[in-house]
Amino acid sequence: MSSWRLDGKTALVTGGSKGIGRAVVDELVALGAHVIVVARSQAGIDETLAAHPGKVTGIAADVTSAAGRARIVGAAPATLDVLVHNAGGNIRRPLTGYDDETIAQIVSLNLLSPLSLSRELHGRLVAAGQASVIHVGSVAGIIALGTGVAYGAAKAGLAQATRTLALEWASTGIRVNTVAPWYTRTDLVAPVLAQPKRLEAILARTPLGRVAEPVEVARAIVFLALPAASYITGQCLAVDGGMSIQGLPYAP
Ligand SMILES: NC(=O)c1ccc[n+]([C@@H]2O[C@H](COP(=O)([O-])OP(=O)(O)OC[C@H]3O[C@@H](n4cnc5c(N)ncnc54)[C@H](OP(=O)(O)O)[C@@H]3O)[C@@H](O)[C@H]2O)c1
Repeated sequence: MSSWRLDGKTALVTGGSKGIGRAVVDELVALGAHVIVVARSQAGIDETLAAHPGKVTGIAADVTSAAGRARIVGAAPATLDVLVHNAGGNIRRPLTGYDDETIAQIVSLNLLSPLSLSRELHGRLVAAGQASVIHVGSVAGIIALGTGVAYGAAKAGLAQATRTLALEWASTGIRVNTVAPWYTRTDLVAPVLAQPKRLEAILARTPLGRVAEPVEVARAIVFLALPAASYITGQCLAVDGGMSIQGLPYAP
């Protein structure tokens, strides 16, 4: 089999009905994988299934609920080659504006749910032989970006969990990596990108001078799922147009 194909492989993508996750599903299908899409809304799943007849199946479930995760585990196949933890989101506030429940909700979605699901699917990943787990983090987990402490801390935790799990699971052939996007044109950040001053500040901070399209993040995620990435584990790859390496803007 080509190192650049996923024929015969099965992948599960949380949050695969919209935005970055949907682009991941499209790329995985194009490379030959069968994909299981998880999202809360059945309508979003149906739309994804209609775009890929016979190539995608769906599970309507909330990854933050034990019942939702049980539904995912119940429907997952006996061997799982690729697991993309993409479902995530934020409620942006200063620390003094958060109650404990909201912090717990953000940490649950962005950190605890991926870990629980990985644990519950571990046997299926081992059974696949050379599985790949990919966490969708954020550059907000690498540097401080005013996104609120809960989201930044959860995404930083996810990147660290990546290193820990990569070590813990290496002997079973499972690779674990994180992709950390910067602003990407999806519904999640549409309200931010619609504010001209915010957009101007974001673009000024981005050496490539534009926000990402979902497919540009998806391709990095899918690369890490490929046999071509067989020696890469425990890493956090920023897909950020150079944002996180810029000290000062270049001035010739
Ligand atoms: N867009 C950016 O600029 C950006 C930047 C950095 C990091 N990220 C990260 O990238 C990932 C994807 O973001 P996105 O912008 O593509 O988001 P999005 O457009 O809002 O899509 C989110 C997807 O996740 C699903 N989802 C949300 N909560 C869920 C839950 N509790 N259980 C199951 N599915 C759930 C949504 O479907 P339902 O609503 O039907 O559940 C949808 O399919 C997130 O982890 C986010 O933190 C995004």
